[in-house]
Amino acid sequence: MSDAEGKSAGTSSRSQIEGEQLRRVLGHFATGVTVVTAHTEEGPVGMVANSFTSVSLDPPLVLFCAGTGSDTWPSIQKVGHFCINVLNHQQEQLAVKFAKKGSDRYEGVEHMLSAHGIPRLAGATAQIDCQIVAEHEAGDHVIVVGQVLEMDLADSESGELSAPLIFYRGGFVRLS
Ligand SMILES: Cc1cc2nc3c(=O)[nH]c(=O)nc-3n(C[C@H](O)[C@H](O)[C@H](O)COP(=O)(O)O)c2cc1C
Repeated sequence: MSDAEGKSAGTSSRSQIEGEQLRRVLGHFATGVTVVTAHTEEGPVGMVANSFTSVSLDPPLVLFCAGTGSDTWPSIQKVGHFCINVLNHQQEQLAVKFAKKGSDRYEGVEHMLSAHGIPRLAGATAQIDCQIVAEHEAGDHVIVVGQVLEMDLADSESGELSAPLIFYRGGFVRLS
């Protein structure tokens, strides 16, 4: 491959990029941590997602990316609504719980249904109810675009919010 084709010193060509390397390098981009929840006929479901981001102000759009191998995503897709629960630094155990396959993720987890009938996890810093308006296939993930229906901040009256839970270099960290 010539330089013109995109390979230069210190970078890797597409074919050389391996999952482990990609994960390690991209892991240096610190993110918040959310649990995407939904209410299905079988009960509440939820999965951890750090791919959440804001997209558009007008109309109000957000997105998260769901792995095509996810057991939870098809249930969220079917109901067409989800809530983004933004976790605070004291909710690391919730993140661990909602990332574990094959477990009862809601066991012992306080939650309530929003006006739109979507489960919201108690204590989450922000809760954003959304309706799925677009899905875009992207490799081994689907980019899920949601239109914001309603949102709340945990402590909007006092104005004091807990520090966020952060995912960085493969682990959970707190702001110090
Ligand atoms: C910090 C963290 C962030 C994650 N972010 C995502 C994500 O953005 N999208 C996704 O599909 N899975 C993500 N996962 C994995 C899911 O939470 C979950 O483990 C996976 O979807 C398997 O469960 P499921 O088959 O029920 O979906 C993340 C896991 C962790 C620990």
